[in-house]
Amino acid sequence: MRVLVDDVSKVYADRGGHPVEALAGVTFTVEAEELVAVVGPSGCGKSTLLNMVAGLLPPSAGSIAFEGALPPGRPPTAMVFQEFALFPWRTVQANVELGLEETGGPAGERHAVARRFIDLTGLGGFERKYPHQLSGGMRQRVGIARALAVDPAVLLMDEPFSALDAQTRQLMQEELLAIWERTRKTILYVTHNIHEAVWMADRVVVLSRRPGRVLDIVPIELKRPRMEAMAAEPAFLQAVERIWALIKSQAREALQEGAA
Ligand SMILES: Nc1ncnc2c1ncn2[C@@H]1O[C@H](COP(=O)(O)OP(=O)(O)OP(=O)(O)O)[C@@H](O)[C@H]1O
Ligand SMILES: [Mg+2]
Repeated sequence: MRVLVDDVSKVYADRGGHPVEALAGVTFTVEAEELVAVVGPSGCGKSTLLNMVAGLLPPSAGSIAFEGALPPGRPPTAMVFQEFALFPWRTVQANVELGLEETGGPAGERHAVARRFIDLTGLGGFERKYPHQLSGGMRQRVGIARALAVDPAVLLMDEPFSALDAQTRQLMQEELLAIWERTRKTILYVTHNIHEAVWMADRVVVLSRRPGRVLDIVPIELKRPRMEAMAAEPAFLQAVERIWALIKSQAREALQEGAA
């Protein structure tokens, strides 16, 4: 399924009712089975963008459309949230079954589907545990299993690994890529980590600081499957440098503005 984000803007109102422009004229496409990362400074509207693609929030202007056949009973999108967003009173099994309950179907089937994604995300044996009994990495796997279990056409991920330590993050990135190779979802992946974006993505959309505008869309010319050693390849380093140059100029502007 393709995602077409066309000239999308979002204006919030702050507590005093004054307009807060979060995104301005954002246009890009995510092709079917493509993994596109979005990077940009904090507060530039990344979560806002994902929420709009998820249909949780309407754009103030512009449009978001999906292109491609959607089998009946399947949602167009599912989200892995920036915070883990698990229900503490539900077990791992029940958290993963959550989205499936909305689509209906017999309980036995829901159970089996959830089990499959629990195994796929390496949570086998932890079905009866509650979120507080899990590590951060495991909680995030539950979030991923829950999103994958509903078999969405497009997987939306909002800084899914930002709360994890560096080693766990690296392992989770590798796992996510392995799952993606198997399931071939269209993925829109938000991160503020440039290395993570380049290592995971087919293309990286770079947003400016608020209001977020598209500064550049950088294609990543690295083969798949991605290997750790690729982080030393010129294609990797050049992409990181190109994105970093854009982000750095944004940070400099922000500093100058702050000093003025
Ligand atoms: N419900 C809301 N009402 C008013 N302003 C909001 C609301 N949600 C977000 N904003 C503002 O919109 C801007 C974009 O927020 P958003 O959460 O999308 O940024 P982000 O890029 O995801 O940031 P981060 O990297 O910190 O997660 C911010 O200035 C934020 O304060
Ligand atoms: Mg955010």
